Amino acid sequence: MVDGEEKASLKLRLREKRYETERLMREKRSEDMDVLEEVFDKSTLMIIYRLLNSGILKKIFGTVKAGKESRIYSGEDSNGKDIAIKIFLVGTSEFRKGMLKYIEGDNRFKKIPRSTRPLIYLWAKKEFRNLSLANEARVRAPKPIYVNGNVLLMEFIGNNGIPAPLLKEAVLKNPTRVYKKLMIYIAALYKKANLIHGDLSEYNVMVLRGRPVLIDFSQGVNVDHPLAHELLKRDIENLNKFFERLNVEIEPFESIYRSIIKKNGERS
Ligand SMILES: Nc1ncnc2c1ncn2[C@@H]1O[C@H](COP(=O)(O)OP(=O)(O)OP(=O)(O)O)[C@@H](O)[C@H]1O
Ligand SMILES: [Mg+2]
Repeated sequence: MVDGEEKASLKLRLREKRYETERLMREKRSEDMDVLEEVFDKSTLMIIYRLLNSGILKKIFGTVKAGKESRIYSGEDSNGKDIAIKIFLVGTSEFRKGMLKYIEGDNRFKKIPRSTRPLIYLWAKKEFRNLSLANEARVRAPKPIYVNGNVLLMEFIGNNGIPAPLLKEAVLKNPTRVYKKLMIYIAALYKKANLIHGDLSEYNVMVLRGRPVLIDFSQGVNVDHPLAHELLKRDIENLNKFFERLNVEIEPFESIYRSIIKKNGERS
């Protein structure tokens, strides 16, 4: 009898605990929505509500990083897996001017929207596509999950909702290995994905378990883009400069470039 009573009271306590957790979760979610409401316009909020209702996204936690042009949040999918949510801010005309440079001339985008919002939607889609291409080329980058309007969901790079450090702040055990891997990634992007990242530096590489992960692909261009060569050079030189400071023996741009544009089987 006592056993039965104890069991019942334990059950009750567990149920209360579950309700309490659910209540806290609801509060947390609405607090997050309050924060989102201060930052985003109505159509962005509608997209996020729809994602939450459809179950693609189960929870949104706090901001991982607030940049000039986008905000990254951490969240969870319906299986409890961490997810990164990148929301592009709609509305700055400076951003629009900056974006056009990387869209005009990319032969994947024939029709370029005139107004800002559709252009930003295209920008988010471009990042989604570039992330898919990078992953297909076996370049380590967040796996894209979903894009709708200015909201992009992708694999979370980090552990337990804590983002991995950027290359800029990471302590590398073997910097030479990381450098070499990055040069392999640049070549694989070019050769297999016809893609140039276009904004590579120690700020757009994360380091997870000692290995580099390329992020922030929205400005990535096709190799036939008029600025392709210039952007590839800048990407390589940015990384060269960074690793030179770590005393890594770097390869000069010209020799990297020659080996990248060399056709398979051709000798340099
Ligand atoms: N998939 C991810 N998982 C975890 N954290 C991420 C992910 N993608 C980006 N971040 C974090 O968010 C930051 C900003 O992301 P990203 O570089 O894509 O945006 P951004 O538009 O360049 O922002 P900024 O305007 O600050 O340069 C990154 O530096 C990184 O710390
Ligand atoms: Mg960035």
